[in-house]
This record gives sequence, C-alpha cells and structure tokens, in this order.
Amino acid sequence: MLILGIETSCDDTAAAVVEDGRRVLSSVVQDQDDLHGPFGGVVPEIASRRHLEVIGPVVRRALESSRTSLGEIDLISVTAGPGLIGSLLVGLSYAKGLCYATGLPLVPVDHIQGHLMTLDLAGGTPLPSVFLVSSGGHTTLYHMEGDDPPGVLGTTLDDAAGEALDKAAKMLGLGYPGGPAMEKAASGGDPAALEFPRPLSGRDTLDFSFSGLKTSLFTWLKREGYFDQTTTGRRLPLAIADIAASYQMAVVDILLERCLAALRHTGGTELVVVGGVARNALLRRRAAAAAVEEGFEVHFPPPRLCTDNAAMIAALGFRERKRALTDPLEINAYSTKALKAGTAHLADHRSGGPAARSDRKPVGHH
Ligand code: KG4
Ligand code: ZN
Repeated sequence: MLILGIETSCDDTAAAVVEDGRRVLSSVVQDQDDLHGPFGGVVPEIASRRHLEVIGPVVRRALESSRTSLGEIDLISVTAGPGLIGSLLVGLSYAKGLCYATGLPLVPVDHIQGHLMTLDLAGGTPLPSVFLVSSGGHTTLYHMEGDDPPGVLGTTLDDAAGEALDKAAKMLGLGYPGGPAMEKAASGGDPAALEFPRPLSGRDTLDFSFSGLKTSLFTWLKREGYFDQTTTGRRLPLAIADIAASYQMAVVDILLERCLAALRHTGGTELVVVGGVARNALLRRRAAAAAVEEGFEVHFPPPRLCTDNAAMIAALGFRERKRALTDPLEINAYSTKALKAGTAHLADHRSGGPAARSDRKPVGHH
C-alpha cells in the first residue's frame, strides 16, 4: 500500500511516499529557517504564507523522487493537529483538494503520534515502551503497549525542552533554530561552568518544567549587564561555549531524570526518544550510558526522522488506515492551543489524538 503523507504543522513543509507504513520511498522537507531566523522564532503568519507557496512543489518532488504517480497512491495521510492553525490548514486543505480531485481516501492524523511512529520507519517500534517526545512544542512522556492509544505519563507544565533551547539561543544571539545552534556553541565548553537549576528535580513527578531554567539564564545575563549593551555589540560575561554547554547539560539532565523515573514507574525496559531534541548528541550519549548502567534499551530514530517530516505522518496513516474518510470535507484542523484548552474534542476524536491529561496514570502522591 502506497501512502502519500503531508505535514505542515509548524515551519516545515513536508511530503513523503511510504510503502506499507515502513519503507520510505521519498521524504521531502523544506524548512523556513531563513525566514524565521531574523525573528529568533517562528512567525505564524509568515509560516502559513510560505507553506502555501511551496506545498505544491514539495508534494510533486516527493512523488517524483519516489518514482510514483498520484494514480498509484492508495491513501493520503495528513497532519490535522496540533500545531499552528494557519500552517495546519494549508496542508489539510491541500490534502482535501487532492482527495477531492482523485477520489482517494484521507486519514487525518495527530502530529505527536506521528513522532511516536518514527521507529516504524527504522527497524520497528519496540512495545511496550516508554516514549519521550521532545520537540519545540512538546515535552511529554507516554507509555505505549500493543495497539492501545498511548497513555500520558507526564508532560511539561510550561515550556518545551526545544523551546528552552530556542529561547536561550535567541538571548545569546545564536539564531534559530536554537537547539542545533546551542549544540554547536557548546562544543568544547565546560558543562559545569554555570550552575543552572533543574526544576522539579528529586520530586515525585513525571512532569517537566523548563521556564525556570530560561529565566535563570535571563536573570544572570541581566545582572551581568549583558542587556545594557547595544544589540549588535553585546559581549557575553563568560565564554559562549561554557554558557551553552552548562545550559545544554541542564536540559539533558532534566529530560533523562524523568525518563528514568518513567521506566521505574512502569517497570519498562525500553525507552524510545523522538522529536527534534532527539537529534542532540549529548542526549543520545548520556541516554546510551544510562541504559548500560541501569539495564534498559534505548532507541533513537535516525536524526533526519527526529525533526518534523511527512514520512512519520504516512507511517501513522498506514497504522490508522481503517479510519480513512471518503468525505474529506468533514475534517477540521486543531491547534496546539485548542488541544491544551481541551476544546479539540471533536477533532481529537476524529484524528485519534493522544490521550488527554485526565487519562494519565497517577504517579506517587502529587
Ligand atoms: O520535532 P520538531 O522538528 O518540531 C516540533 O514539532 O516542534 O522539533 C524542533 C525542535 C526545535 O526546538 C529545535 O531547536 C530542536 O527541536 N532541535 C534540537 C536539535 N535539533 C533540533 N535540539 C537540540 N539539539 C539538536 N541537535
Ligand atoms: Zn514535531
């Protein structure tokens, strides 16, 4: 079965052709880093405009490089949420149009569950597993077993890990996206140079918090007079490598501590780390070392499948092919905000979004 996946939830326009949910025949991702870079973060209006300009060519390129024609595709799978609503609507409307024109069925899928599927494309997903999805918009621990929908074990109470890295990079003038910029800047730096807080550390919880970390960097820079200098001529009070390495270490410490707690809580022996932050080499190295020490298996998808792509959306579409709709006009997009506010029920139901917070398994007494 050939599935065309389409993904436009944030600032990457992506299309892919995947066979039987496993074999990636093509995966095209066009980022918008050049457009958002000067702003130090994604500008939603600019993102949706660029999606509109490039979605057609990106889908065509995905079909061409897979040597497939639209007539050979069996199903279209598209991200319905969560994400930026304007961005989502471009991909969803384009997919609806294609389905209308061709009569192909459409499966609307959930972006985060798409990330959870990435190992299907790289040798298979071990189950049961604890999953950490760590990206620019999400930092959530799931427990997945068999075909049941994933259960949420814990999530961030404020910022996502990727966002904490993006915001820090912006403060330090390193550009966007911040995760890879911080990783590069941290090279050769001393991770013990600055002591950043590890919010919620040692607490009986599987939730995350990153905003205190970001604030502590801001407060320290302010105290050192960094923001009193002109934007163009700012000089850091300490070597950039030391600051970035210390900050990156704090982010990795927070993520790993909670992953280990989730494994203990579920009695699991398999950890899967996905999402953009899973590209980070320090996180990969530290997780691998912890796995040897604590006796569990850790799995990371190849880096290109960690950040947003449409191959994972096609893989999820294959798993959820039974939910395919022949009347695509029924489908609606849902934003991250609506999901958090709990007003995305209808769309959630249709797209099989991740379990709501109320489904979380209790941890300790908090
Ligand atoms: O999964 P993703 O592409 O998009 C979302 O769904 O958010 O993740 C993007 C996030 C950004 O915050 C980016 O800074 C971060 O992943 N990221 C990294 C690295 N590469 C991307 N963070 C740490 N180290 C990296 N090498
Ligand atoms: Zn993502």
